[in-house]
Formats: sequence, C-alpha cells, structure tokens
Amino acid sequence: MGVDPGALLLHFTRNGEYAGGAGDLLVLDRGEGPYVFDVQGRRYIDGLSSLFCSQLGYSYGAEFAAVASAQLEKLAFNTNWATAHPGAIELADRLAALSPTGPAKVFFTNGGSESVEAAWKVIRQYHVGRGEPGRTKAIARKISYHGVTLGALSLTGVPSFKEPFGPAAIPTTHVENTNSFRSDVAEAEWTARLLDEVEATIQAEGPETVAAIFAEPVQNAGGCFVPPEGYWRGLREIADRHGVLLVADEVITGMGRLGEWFGSTRVDARPDIVTIAKGLTSAYAPMGAVLVAEPVAAPLYEDGVTLLHGITFGGHPVSAAIALKNLEIFERDGVLENVRAQEPHLRERLQGLYDLPLVGDVRGAGFFWAVELVRDAELSRFEGAAREALLKEILPGGLREAGLIARADGRGDLVVQIAPPLICDAGQLDEVVDRLGEAIGKAGDALAARGLAGEALV
Ligand SMILES: Cc1ncc(COP(=O)(O)O)c(C=O)c1O
Repeated sequence: MGVDPGALLLHFTRNGEYAGGAGDLLVLDRGEGPYVFDVQGRRYIDGLSSLFCSQLGYSYGAEFAAVASAQLEKLAFNTNWATAHPGAIELADRLAALSPTGPAKVFFTNGGSESVEAAWKVIRQYHVGRGEPGRTKAIARKISYHGVTLGALSLTGVPSFKEPFGPAAIPTTHVENTNSFRSDVAEAEWTARLLDEVEATIQAEGPETVAAIFAEPVQNAGGCFVPPEGYWRGLREIADRHGVLLVADEVITGMGRLGEWFGSTRVDARPDIVTIAKGLTSAYAPMGAVLVAEPVAAPLYEDGVTLLHGITFGGHPVSAAIALKNLEIFERDGVLENVRAQEPHLRERLQGLYDLPLVGDVRGAGFFWAVELVRDAELSRFEGAAREALLKEILPGGLREAGLIARADGRGDLVVQIAPPLICDAGQLDEVVDRLGEAIGKAGDALAARGLAGEALV
C-alpha cells in the first residue's frame, strides 16, 4: 500500500490509480542541494528540478525565508492594480534590463499559463490600439505545451489535452515543430521548409487576421527540440513582413536553463514578448511575468487607454522579494556560469547512453535534455502495449528505483526528460546520468520479460 492522497486531486494524473493508497504515490518531504527525500526518508536526485522550476535546488531556504519574512513584516500584500510596491517596481526594472526584447515593460502573474494568457491580452490590445482589430488568430507549433487555462490551451498543440473542452478560445493553427530526429534533409533546407510552412500558413489564414506566433526557444513537449540554425531569425523576418508579433514562451527556457538569462539569446531570437514563470523565483514562491517590448506596450500608455487585464496576486510582494533575491543569488553564485561550464560534460555523459540499445536520440542544450527511446536499430517508435507499459509502469518504476526524479513523457514520441538544478556540479550530473542509464537499461530487460521488446533487444 502506498500513501493515500485522500481529498487531494493530482494534476495530470490517473487519480483512480492512487485512490485509497492503491498506487505507490511519491510524497516528498524535504530537499537538500539537488536532492529530495520522500516521507520514508528515501533520497532521490532531482533530475527534473521539480518540473523545470528549482534552478537553485533546495538549500537556499534560509536566505529566501529571511527576505520573505522581512517583507511580510513590512507589507504583507498590495496589488499592482493602479497601486504598486517597491519590490514589484524594482523587479520589473531588473527584468526589463535583461529582456531579450530590448527595452521592455513587465506585467506580473502567478505562473506560466497566466503569463501566456496575459501576453495574448496585451497582443490584442496592441493590434486594436493600432486600428487592426481583425488580428484575432495565433500560430503555434505541434505538440507544444503553453499551458492549460482556456486561452493558453488554445495555443497548446497536444490535441488529447483539448478534446473535452470545446472550441479553442484563440483560433490557432499549429505548424511543424523543430524535431530533427529522423529528418533526412540538410539543416539549411530543413530550416527553409519549416519557415516556408509558417509563411504559407499566414498567407492561408490571411496576414491581416494573424496576431502572433508563439514558440519556445527550445520546445519541451516532444523532448527538447533545438531549432536549426537560422530558424528564429527567419521567424522574426516573417513576423516583421506581416505585422505579426513574435512571442518566445520562456516558461522553461528562461532564468538560466540554457546557460543564459533567456533562451532567446542562445537561439538568436528577437521576440516582441517573452513569457516566464517557473525559475523566476527558483520555485521558492509562485510567480510569472510577461516582458513586453516597449513599442508593443506603447498603445497601453496612450491617453485614456486602460490595460484590460489584472490578476489579484500578480506581483505579490513576497514573490517579488524572493525573485529579486533569486536574481542576486544567480549573480553572486555564478549560476549561469555553472551551466555553461558543465554543459559539455553533461552532453558528453548523456551521449554515452547511446551504448544502450533503447536509446535512439539524445538532444538538448544547457541543463535541458531529452533521451528518445526507440524499439530497434531502425529507430522505430514505441507504440501500443510496449509504449503504454514503458510510460506508465516500467520507466516511472525504474527511475524511482534508481533514485532519480525524471519524466517519461509521451506527448510526442517516447522520451525521458532531464533538467537538473542549475547548481549541480559534475559529480551530481554524473549521478543523474548514471541513474538514468540504469533505469533505461533495466527498461529493456523489463520489456523483454513482458514479451514486448523490439528487434534490438531480442
Ligand atoms: C512553455 C510553457 N508554457 C506555459 C506553461 C504553463 O505553465 P504553468 O504550469 O505554470 O501554468 C508551461 C508549463 O510547463 C510551459 O512549459
């Protein structure tokens, strides 16, 4: 028997499997450095940074508690609705100075979906303000994840997440993502094909009806799709040609995950708007933000214009104090430098996993990687019973047994995602990769034992 979650509904989970303690629910109790401990005291290395959030790991609690406590004693709360507080103003200025958009204005939220929705509202007000109210459509990419609230869900490109919820709030066309695995064309040709599709989609929809393109610098869902050379420069050109805004959804890639403050810098994106959340506070408090290039925010500053969007807790003083402390620690402790210094080692170690017959592709950047699993030497995809068994039982069980928090993801082809805390040293990254290798190795044996193995395994 596992722990009974009782009244707690688990997000994106088959809740029935855990009801009454039926499943072996992981209940985490404390953290230390990049490690977390469950209620039985078992230690795991957090190879996923608590869903891409815990950039600093778990040992900065005292420092964050001190700034949170000082803020709570001084001013526990004030909104950003026609009033402000010094922390929100200072944080907005800090983020604006770092923003890959160039000079920017900043709107605070409580998380990623809220950031994406707020971005859409700003985009609409921009087009309406410029006398182009007919720009009501968006372009996003297949298998992308931009959140789950109804506006953000429109942009999300995973059909199964959307089916029960009716027509999309934002009419969105999904174009190809930048998955290069199994592509047999040269990089330049592939870039051109992807961009041609974006151009053709805008033409087909009617350029005067398209408001924005949403894309992640490196797409997470489907497994770390690094864009080909020239892709983001091409998106910028297309967007400029048609008066369409370009949004970099950096809810994962922002705040150091790729070794830069923003992933946009790494992939040479010049977005008009950037959405962030997760790592902004290293998850010591919930917070998100939208960074809006000044020319795009300009209509909001015109006489008589009201920003028609607001979120009570957006820019909460405690979250703002924690985010400011997070930025300070990043600089003081050389967090971006650590990611840059360790990336080659992590890459090399992960590439060593190609020795395992199940490993078909290893891809990523910074501390953000995916390992795609394949059935055989022809790189066939896992499907049917084998895929289900791997995703729902063999991999989660094997990773847990190996003492590694990582994610088996089936939104696209079958991948295991790795995104360790950005403070990991070489030895801790080795631990992540060793344990991952152990779990994938045993998965091959488990498949064979169930009679579900592919050619390479028998
Ligand atoms: C790129 C991206 N955008 C938006 C979201 C939604 O963020 P949240 O779960 O904080 O609403 C996520 C969540 O993983 C994400 O990865």
